[in-house]
Amino acid sequence: MAAETNPFPDAAHEIAALRGQLRRHEYLYYVLDQPEISDARFDALMNRLKALEQAHPELVTPDSPTQRVGGEPREGLVRAPHSSRLLSLDNAYSEAELRDFDHRVRQGLGDESADYVAELKLDGLSLALHYHQGLFVRGLTRGNGEIGEDVTANLRTIRSLPLRVTLPDGFPSDIEVRGEVVMPRAAFAQVNAEREKEELALFANPRNAAAGALRVLDPRITASRRLDFIAYYLLAQGEPWLPAQADGLQALKNLGFKTSPHWRLCPDIGAAWAYIQDWENRRAELPYETDGVVIKVNSRAAQHRLGTVSKYPRWAIAYKYAARGGETRLLDIEIQVGRTGALTPVAVLEPVPLGGVLVSRATLHNQDEIARLDIRVGDAVRVERSGDVIPKITAVVLEKRPPDAREFHWPGQCPVCGSHIWREPEEAVWRCANASCPARLRESLRHFARRNAMDIDGLGEALIAQLTASGLVRDFADLYDLQPEPLAALERMGEKSAANLLAQIEASKRRELHRVLFALGIRHVGERVARLLAQAYGDLDALMAAPALELETVPEIGPAIAAAVEQFFQEPLNRALIERLRRAGVNLRGSRQSPAAGKLAGQSFVLTGTLASLTREQAAAAIEARGGKVAAAVSRKTAAVVAGAAPGSKLDKARALGVRILSEAEFLQLLE
Ligand code: IVH
Repeated sequence: MAAETNPFPDAAHEIAALRGQLRRHEYLYYVLDQPEISDARFDALMNRLKALEQAHPELVTPDSPTQRVGGEPREGLVRAPHSSRLLSLDNAYSEAELRDFDHRVRQGLGDESADYVAELKLDGLSLALHYHQGLFVRGLTRGNGEIGEDVTANLRTIRSLPLRVTLPDGFPSDIEVRGEVVMPRAAFAQVNAEREKEELALFANPRNAAAGALRVLDPRITASRRLDFIAYYLLAQGEPWLPAQADGLQALKNLGFKTSPHWRLCPDIGAAWAYIQDWENRRAELPYETDGVVIKVNSRAAQHRLGTVSKYPRWAIAYKYAARGGETRLLDIEIQVGRTGALTPVAVLEPVPLGGVLVSRATLHNQDEIARLDIRVGDAVRVERSGDVIPKITAVVLEKRPPDAREFHWPGQCPVCGSHIWREPEEAVWRCANASCPARLRESLRHFARRNAMDIDGLGEALIAQLTASGLVRDFADLYDLQPEPLAALERMGEKSAANLLAQIEASKRRELHRVLFALGIRHVGERVARLLAQAYGDLDALMAAPALELETVPEIGPAIAAAVEQFFQEPLNRALIERLRRAGVNLRGSRQSPAAGKLAGQSFVLTGTLASLTREQAAAAIEARGGKVAAAVSRKTAAVVAGAAPGSKLDKARALGVRILSEAEFLQLLE
């Protein structure tokens, strides 16, 4: 095939064209959910744009589709005042309360009837986004309604949030868009499944998970959780723009924001009530959690006349659906012992249908929760399940307590191995003290064999139970001593399966260091932390020798992690285990990239222009943390000039001197 000639006169034109195309495809994919091109094609366009921007860092702008990657973690969230108060809404729980609201509205308007807009109420976090001349410049959380937290860098990573919008003629140059950041149920289920595997506390609902993802200091974490921004309110100078709420919704949609398609213009409150009932049972089908319907007076003039009382507008109300709850009986309480030895009580229930699924188990969290609920085996209990959350017992129906209800006695020892149990002073969780408790061993082995750890596919739950029960495996290292004959002699095993498993175990010796580290199941050491530690120390011996204070100097490693790592490697049993892994030939080395040694040591950098993902101070701190220096002026000794958007004369100087120029993306890569 003959080489295609590039139709663009220069890079700037091609970059502009690519950004236009990518924005359109992002919109089709993330906002409308109607992609027109394949993911591969999208990636190819994105890669072309990245390459051009790398070659021409001076052309990188913060609204470029390449800038959604998420920059360096920040020190803390910065607070900033809202243009006008983010009001919250009064609630209604019944048709009568809704009609009272309508009554008050009509009275307030002098018995004029009001049109309402009924919108599904999204269960997320309210946000205020600011656009200057079409460019997304800032996003604030609700905070206390008057002052919010600046989460701009995190918001940039949300694909359905436009980084640039085209303002129609006559629009003000500064607009504000309010709406809700939500986590789709599917993304929530995924996040919690991952957390469960790592024995991290689960998020109670998608809303909390979204809040967690949005308020983290590291935008890369936000980027890794699938969040969505759904707009519902358009303002200019702190006041609603356009004469009615319905116009605002339409205008937001036209601007390219994701808006909920689920709203209706209602001529009276009866129509709004019909809309509420319409969704009562259908809302479970939506990709997001909704906890009600917001009813708003449509006309802006009427809204203005009604005004607000304390923190609520008089022109809107939130009708709240009752949580999906039910009543059933507690048949038993079981104690599960996890990999870290944590004892978790689980309620065994008479199966009850809740929100379309049959629920037969619910978490009771810990001993304190059992005491708080004063729950007894045999009790009638209220169970609630919001969305895809693990069902929860919210109360005991005391009037229905049977006379033979039995108090639950928290075990004085591990229910699996009978060992001593302990808990940390301020902690609610009891743990089995026996590191080789069979339950802990089974769970630890399952973790060890996981795909993202040592990846030993054939080592499933049933086989682990056989291996531990037969005494063939008492710790990780025993896996590497397994012999074909005794293995083949296990029930349902045979020579062929045994040989397969041994081959897989053999292959696992070559896993990268960070996987080995993760597989060990050290407290607080999840996948990401394992990667950071492996990168910082390069091999396990160096890591094992590191005192907690030194570990804390690794970016993102806090005191709790550092202490847990130090403690793990101080333990003689763990050291012996690692020695056996080493002798078996398990890889304990990685490629060293030590920031402690200062990967930028002796190099001097100059910053120019604005970076999209971090401030000048943060960029400087990041360079210094790696041993580099930041200089004010470019000279021949400058290692590189970091060029953000709208760079100054320093860039020209760098060009003239032949000094290396780094785009933001390249700079971030260098810091990695
Ligand atoms: S309107 C004055 N519309 O519900 C206007 N709020 O309980 C106030 N919410 O803080 C907000 N979906 O976070 C509005 N379609 C919607 C909404 C909505 C969810 C949230 C919002 C608000 C809270 C009040």
